[in-house]
Amino acid sequence: MRKKVTIVGSGNVGATAAHWIASKELADVVLIDIIEGVPQGKGLDLLEAMPIEKRDSFVVGTNDYADTANSDIVVITAGIPRKPGMSRDDLLNTNYKIMSDVVGKVVQYSPHCILIVVSNPLDAMAQAAYKLSGFPRERVVGMAGVLDSARFRTFIAQELNVSVENVNAFVLGGHGDTMVPLPRYSTVAGIPITELMDKTTLDRLVQRTRDGGAEIVKYLKTGSAYYAPSAAATEMVEAILKDKKKILPCAAYLNGEYGIKGLYVGVPVKLGAKGIEQIIEIKLTPEEKSALDKSAAAVKELVAVINV
Ligand code: LAC
Repeated sequence: MRKKVTIVGSGNVGATAAHWIASKELADVVLIDIIEGVPQGKGLDLLEAMPIEKRDSFVVGTNDYADTANSDIVVITAGIPRKPGMSRDDLLNTNYKIMSDVVGKVVQYSPHCILIVVSNPLDAMAQAAYKLSGFPRERVVGMAGVLDSARFRTFIAQELNVSVENVNAFVLGGHGDTMVPLPRYSTVAGIPITELMDKTTLDRLVQRTRDGGAEIVKYLKTGSAYYAPSAAATEMVEAILKDKKKILPCAAYLNGEYGIKGLYVGVPVKLGAKGIEQIIEIKLTPEEKSALDKSAAAVKELVAVINV
């Protein structure tokens, strides 16, 4: 049987995720939004591209959650995006209200799905979805680390003039100004980047990664990034649907791992058919651990505001 992926939110991130997923023929796609017409129009337009792409993915747009029934995965992108000068945290209360509405309906129609949360502020919205859904933590995962490390990988590949395929990178912590890129665990063809560039260069790339979202917002002015965020969500969808057991940095609910309890924070996880199949604990230096703790504290402040 075909796999079914619902994408909540037919804005740039949602529609582009639908595009990646359908064009890779990973699943049939339902695009849902409260705005009338937009998901239907984008869904039909994308469906009509399938003969050209030679893909049999079925795509449909809707305003009715009944159409999302029995989805294997639901990707939640709903929420307002950032404008220049806004931080991801400025979106907190508005997007929490949207999340409350969305998660209830998603769970009603797809009680066995895996939730991938993309809305910002990411870690707090993942925690909200986890609490609102009542799902086990394995089935609620946040997308941020794949995006942040993709940005880091891009900058490393550019700096060293090597293929992006050679570059692996890890970014831990919350998806915010306190995110923790880990140069020690970032490699080019297996060689740690700490051996390939000096500290000043490294610090510059780390800072650009931290500011990666804001860099795009500054250019776009009326919204935030969507190609790389939706590609990141798609990589997670693929890992789950194909049961790849792929190790990716994702926001996961920690229950004591890394000394953090009761909080969504970005860590390496193994993604497979069951969702988060393992949380991988890597050894951190005291400096890295304290950066992660600082990042977790920032997430904790947000979840306290919305009380989840
Ligand atoms: C970014 C926003 C989407 O990092 O969080 O681009």
